[in-house]
Amino acid sequence: MSGRAAVLAGLGGWLPPTRITNDDLARQLDTTDEWITTRTGIRQRFVVPPGLSTSDVAIEAGARALASAGTDSVGLLVLATSTPDHPCPATAPEVAGRLGLGEIPAFDVAAVCTGFVYALATASSMIRAGIADSALVIGADTFSTILDPGDRTTRAIFGDGAGAMVLRAGSLWERGALLGFDLASDGSQADLITVPGGGSEYRSKGLAAPGDEFFTMQGRSVFRNAVTRMSESSRRLAKQLDWPLESIDRLVAHQANIRILTAVGNELGLPEEKLVVNLDRVGNTVAASIPLALADAVHTGSIAPGHRLLLCGFGGGLTWGAAALEFPEVSVEPLPGSPAPAESTYTK
Ligand code: UT7
Repeated sequence: MSGRAAVLAGLGGWLPPTRITNDDLARQLDTTDEWITTRTGIRQRFVVPPGLSTSDVAIEAGARALASAGTDSVGLLVLATSTPDHPCPATAPEVAGRLGLGEIPAFDVAAVCTGFVYALATASSMIRAGIADSALVIGADTFSTILDPGDRTTRAIFGDGAGAMVLRAGSLWERGALLGFDLASDGSQADLITVPGGGSEYRSKGLAAPGDEFFTMQGRSVFRNAVTRMSESSRRLAKQLDWPLESIDRLVAHQANIRILTAVGNELGLPEEKLVVNLDRVGNTVAASIPLALADAVHTGSIAPGHRLLLCGFGGGLTWGAAALEFPEVSVEPLPGSPAPAESTYTK
């Protein structure tokens, strides 16, 4: 096998300006800060204000990852999202265009909360195959635009945001190389996480009901699957790489629920300090979750160069997967909590 690999060269994230605390939600819905904090670990989330959509948050994160890599050009853009600006076309070409990246290949990957791991695997494979020499991989979602405003469960969990990585071609033996992936799906459980309407199935069958454009989730079953699947995927990848589980320095798992993260940590025998957690601050940001958690942990110094990282995700589809790397020298800007949209340089 050739030693060519995709190597992490830049990292960035962005959160939209509107912060919603648990107390804010409790003023609108039949919920409490105590319920949300104890059942999920989430204390606040950020959502897009009217007028901003997924391309806007993706561009902000993408620009920060490019700056972190010290470059303004890449050969490929892969955008993981389940809330594209439009059902058609993909959002990635618009993001590439507004970032000034030229006529590069650009496409979306839809794997809900596993989207970033799938997109990373896609970009990494294209670099390894010589189809591209560098890539911008963005995970961006604005789930606030598809939640039922009256659904206390989903509104307590989800937040908007975007995270991004720049990859460059390098060697499998250098720090930062993406060393392997484990990807899987189970379509028989597709209905556990779904937006029922708005697609070809409902149009073709003439099905339409009020509210079918909203996101739905069967929380308990999703919870059980998330623990099992993220644990098994992490375990499989560690075995494939010959990494003893205790040699993993940090697990950067999808930020869905603190109880899920703790359960996965227990399954893998990883102590609490090895679990990266930022869901208290940002909620479940879907495809943005893993790169945002990584960016936060790098910024706070919890992740340092040389650390063995397992990234793992789980989401609708069902889909799940894991990726592995040793963290290189990459610096990241602190996640801006609330820049005004007007300050953005990347206007439509
Ligand atoms: O990102 C993709 C992956 N998504 C996930 O991983 C999410 C996985 N699931 C979860 O995190 C949890 O299942 C939830 C946080 C969604 C729900 O927690 P739970 O402990 O599984 O609660 P539950 O769904 O079993 O509901 C328990 C009770 C219900 O009331 P009853 O029927 O017992 O009277 C809910 O209606 O809690 C109620 N409830 C709430 N109460 C206050 C649900 N949401 C809320 C809320 N505030 N926000």
